[in-house]
Order: sequence, then structure tokens, then C-alpha cells
Amino acid sequence: MEDIKKYQKAEKIKKQREDLQTIPWYYDGLENLCNRIHPGKQLLRVTDIKQLSSDTKLFRFISANPNKQLAPFRAGQYIGLTVEINGARSSRPFSIVSSPNQLSYYELGVRIKEGGFVSPFIVNNLKVGDILEASEPLGNLYYNPLFHGKDLVFVAGGCGITPFISMLKDISERDIPLNIWLIFGCLTEKDILFREELEDIQERRPNIHVRYILSEPDVDWKGECGFISRDKILKEVGTIEKKYFYVVGNRAMYEYVKEELSHLGIPQHRIYFEAFGVPDDVTKVIGWPSDLDSSNKFQITLEYRQYSQKEKIKFEAMCTEPLLNSLERALKSKITIENACRSGECALCRTKMISGKVFVPPEVTVREVDKSFGFIHPCVSYPLADIHLDLTLT
Ligand code: FES
Repeated sequence: MEDIKKYQKAEKIKKQREDLQTIPWYYDGLENLCNRIHPGKQLLRVTDIKQLSSDTKLFRFISANPNKQLAPFRAGQYIGLTVEINGARSSRPFSIVSSPNQLSYYELGVRIKEGGFVSPFIVNNLKVGDILEASEPLGNLYYNPLFHGKDLVFVAGGCGITPFISMLKDISERDIPLNIWLIFGCLTEKDILFREELEDIQERRPNIHVRYILSEPDVDWKGECGFISRDKILKEVGTIEKKYFYVVGNRAMYEYVKEELSHLGIPQHRIYFEAFGVPDDVTKVIGWPSDLDSSNKFQITLEYRQYSQKEKIKFEAMCTEPLLNSLERALKSKITIENACRSGECALCRTKMISGKVFVPPEVTVREVDKSFGFIHPCVSYPLADIHLDLTLT
């Protein structure tokens, strides 16, 4: 009798546990929060466009879905914007300029990249009312109080100022007690983006110091001239002790500043580099096979799944173009290869390479586990032989 009672009691407790587990107590709250932070994709509508300089525009986007708010982000992060050009879907990352303390809109600054594919299309064709697909906010450029300390040096080149504008807005709005030195390199005075905003912040916040350095100034420019050299950095920040450096700009600026910072003896762990995109000329990158004719094309075989069917296409790809660009052109809108950073950082585009050989610029860090299992990041991989890729294994 005693055993039966114990059995019944155990069964009752088991049933209660099972009932409870059907819908965990935290399900609603956390599930909603996770979906809000990581929506995967977002649909954005252009509501405002402002010309910032001769080749740069500021775009304001709101959520195109009335039932969905924009995903929150950390100041400094970016989103990948997708556009369709001549039937090919392609996306590029753009840093968010607006403050993370309001989520009624995102603002993105887009500059036309010479010889680029997506940025000229966006700047020249996007109009108010257009709807675009975008990724959720991504990226590792943001202030981390645990590791970055209280003295921050922002080094920006050209359009690389955009994430810093968001960070400065955030720091200023939340009154975060930080000392900041912003060193902003531009070609001419006309190329100083967000000057009004920068001067306003500087006026209100004595702990934020802004210095412009122009490489091609007009004769009446009275400020600093030249490049962002080690002397100019030191002159601006005084001492490098306990300072954390963030560097954002194009590849050429990145190479130069990297060298200058290493001469100042700043340890690697106190520098964060964000250099979107790939080299303008990959044949000039260290490690590129000098005996390879740069006009070479290789055959790419790609297997993918569409409507549950396995399909295969073959096409030719230039050795000097990232594989992802060739793939997007060949696939048209049949399927989309997920991507966001186009710099080898986010790993969204990882693809299984069955056979072949690719060149990857040395500064790109592909995860060891991806390398050992034969995965490549086509956004930063250049074909050096015929290649067989299988998207169904990704
Ligand atoms: S798009 Fe981010 S790694 Fe390729």
C-alpha cells in the first residue's frame, strides 16, 4: 500500500513537471526579446535622403513592416543592405550613423566607391519610398567597458567616420564618462562629413577632442595636413598609455595606420581595426601568386538546392574578383548566398569547397575549424584554379 502511494505521488510530480515544461515560464518574454534582437532579416523603407558631399548621401530608413520594430543595435555596428542590380542580388555592409538610443529609424551614410557595384547603385538610384532587405545589426566595433578602458582614440578615414558618429552620439546622450580623441583624415575640407554634428558634440563635451587631418587641403586650410602619421597621433593624444584605438577606413588607410600604430608600440590587443571590403587590387596583396596572369579565368561548378531539387551550374570567374561577386552574378536571383560583412568576419557566407584552390588575403582570419573541414568564405576568396562548391553542404 505504501509503495502504491509513493508511486502515485511520484507520478503526480512527474505530471506537474511535464505540464510546466510544455510552455517554459520564460518562453514568451525571452522568445520575443530574442526575435527582436535577432530578426535575421528586416525590411526597410527609405524615408529621407540628404546629400552629405559630392559622392556621399545620408539615407534614413524606417521599418517597412508596421508590425515589426527595427532591431536594436550597439553604437558602431553595421547592417548589410541588399539590392537587385540587373537581376543579380548583392549586399554590402554600411555602418549605422544614428544613435542606438532611438529605434524609430536607422541612418546610413553611403559613399560611392570608385569602380564599385553596389554603392554607386544605392547613391544614384535609391529614392524615398523604396523598400530594401537588410540584415540585423552585426559587427564587433563597439565600446566594451570591460576591455577598452576610459581613454579611447577613434581613427577615421573618409566614410569610416560613420560608426564613430553613432558612438559619439551614444556617449554624449548617455553622459558616459570617457575621454575621446577623434582623428579624422580626409582629402579636402569639403570631404569632412558630419562636421556640424562633430563641432556641436565637441562644444558640449570638453572630454571629446576632434582633429581633422587633410591630405589634399586648399591653400587657406589652417589645420593639420598630410596623413595620419605616428607623430600626428602622438601630438594629438599625448601618450599612448592605457588608450584603446579603433581604426575605421579603407584598405589603404588601414595598411598605413596599422604600420604607424605598431611603430608607436601599441600592443595588438589595444587596437581594433574595421576595414570593410576587399583590396582594390588583390594582385598587390602580399602572398598573391606573382606568376599568375591576372586576366585568368577559372571554371566554377556550383551545386545548390532550389525548391528541394539539387541543381548544378558552371560558369567562369575572374581570378582577381572575389568569388562571392561572381557567384551572385551567375546565380542571378535563383538563390541568395547569405552575407553581411563582405570582409571574412561574420562567416555568414561560408561555403563548402569540394575541390580547388583559393587565395585569401593574409589579414583575413578564417576560423580554423572552417579551414580544416574545407569551408571557405567566398566574399574574401579569389579562385586560383577550377573550383567545385557545394552550397547544399553548408
Ligand atoms: S559575408 Fe561575412 S564572412 Fe563573408
